[in-house]
Amino acid sequence: MDKLLEVKNLQTHFFMAEGVAKAVDGTTFSIGRGQVLGVVGESGCGKSVTARSIMRMVRPPGHTVDGEILYSRADEGSQSTEIDLLQLPATGPEMRMIRGGEIAMIFQEPRASLSPVHRIGDQISENILLHQDVTSSQAEEIAVEMLRQVHIPLAEQRMQAFAHQLSGGMCQRVMIAMALSCHPSLLIADEPTTALDVTTEAQILELMQGLQAELDMAIMFITHDLGVVADMADEVAVMYLGKVVEAGTAADIFRDPRHPYTVALLESLPRMDQKREWLQTIRGVVPDPYSTLSGCPFHPRCADFMPGVCDEIVPQPIALDDGREVRCLLYTEHAERAPASEGQALLTAEEISNQ
Ligand SMILES: Nc1ncnc2c1ncn2[C@@H]1O[C@H](COP(=O)(O)OP(=O)(O)OP(=O)(O)O)[C@@H](O)[C@H]1O
Ligand SMILES: [Mg+2]
Repeated sequence: MDKLLEVKNLQTHFFMAEGVAKAVDGTTFSIGRGQVLGVVGESGCGKSVTARSIMRMVRPPGHTVDGEILYSRADEGSQSTEIDLLQLPATGPEMRMIRGGEIAMIFQEPRASLSPVHRIGDQISENILLHQDVTSSQAEEIAVEMLRQVHIPLAEQRMQAFAHQLSGGMCQRVMIAMALSCHPSLLIADEPTTALDVTTEAQILELMQGLQAELDMAIMFITHDLGVVADMADEVAVMYLGKVVEAGTAADIFRDPRHPYTVALLESLPRMDQKREWLQTIRGVVPDPYSTLSGCPFHPRCADFMPGVCDEIVPQPIALDDGREVRCLLYTEHAERAPASEGQALLTAEEISNQ
């Protein structure tokens, strides 16, 4: 894999009066050039904070206190240079060129990410002018074209609108247009289609897939929707309490999940052949990030909990034969029994995306 971004042992903590919330606590994953990485996990597991850390947009009381974010920047020729984004000043010129130009982000709350006092056309054009060698009228033309591509009706008139005059779904499409306007090499899409109806969602996903193929753009796709991940992603990273607990190809993870948390997430999906009246839920709730659980952070909720092992030993990432990484003591010498999920085929990626 030609690596575009490699995140190593990322630690972003929030220093609050109540204590230190370790929102991102040792996250490690990588994204290949032109690849789609699906990032999944329950609410509060650190997906958005990971994304903001990559963009160097974490605000106090949050701070990235450790780790590396290695970004492979394409040079003029076929060479590339690797830079650690954490070593760059967050508001310095280099990071400003990368942010929004080479690495763009669609935020989970689009309205909060658009300026309330500038017309949306000006916001998109300004971003294009900052990152591309074009005149202001060319930037405006590109902006209108991008708004058309994300299916905003009357795009030219909408250039004059302010964010508060648009619906939530419309704001989300404006964010998508802005992010895609500079043809980034990495698009971080944080729940990009949650505010949209299913028809528009399908169109936007198609647009993103089209651009991804055409421009060889990589996407870090953060979502709760495993169906969308099955449809879009090459690789999947499953997060739990600030850590990636399982990472591998989408096909492997959907066919044969290894971490009990991934198994539980997939079991909570509706299935066409399911006779049960109720859907399976994952027992318990995600502990708050202030908690200091001993051993594996998932142990109080785990179906395969091994007393005296899982509540005492902190699991480290383990590389399995098929190239997958899993943080689970079932795959160590501590395991007293075979993993319950072994050989248990759930659904194929195709079956999930068809649901
Ligand atoms: N500004 C902040 N101040 C304090 N804690 C924060 C702040 N932002 C995030 N956190 C904490 O960090 C943890 C991770 O939050 P994050 O927003 O990354 O979750 P998420 O995985 O994106 O969830 P969701 O699926 O709901 O979007 C949460 O427990 C959250 O409370
Ligand atoms: Mg989030």
